[in-house]
Amino acid sequence: MGTVHRVVFGNCRTMKEIHDESVHLMVTSPPYYNAPFDYPDLFRDYDEFFGLIRDLSRDLYRVLAPGRVACFVTDDMLVKGEKYPVVADITRLMLDAGFDIVIALCGSNQKATCE
Ligand SMILES: C[S@@+](CC[C@H](N)C(=O)[O-])C[C@H]1O[C@@H](n2cnc3c(N)ncnc32)[C@H](O)[C@@H]1O
Repeated sequence: MGTVHRVVFGNCRTMKEIHDESVHLMVTSPPYYNAPFDYPDLFRDYDEFFGLIRDLSRDLYRVLAPGRVACFVTDDMLVKGEKYPVVADITRLMLDAGFDIVIALCGSNQKATCE
């Protein structure tokens, strides 16, 4: 049995190129919220960052097949002396979008920590 690979250059907020319940595994590494090392001041504020993740969570629920898995590579962020609980907040958004179980696996080689 062969497989077909398709690369889509699109926006994760509305994945109109992807049919409902057609995805069996999603792995993403969204931008770290205004990470000083990678994305300084990319987002105006934390609400803008979470607008992106919220939009993604809703369309993600639509495209994932029932019982399938979404994985986020992310971590809490320390930006200009303020700590942002990214892992907990993404977990909340996923639950609100309808996902049943969210497991946060934390462990990285970065100095940022997650609870
Ligand atoms: C942490 S990087 C991930 C890099 C990727 N894992 C790699 O190895 O190249 C975050 C990526 O999210 C992309 N991105 C940001 N907003 C997006 C959006 N609305 N839709 C799709 N991708 C987006 C950025 O362009 C960036 O490449």
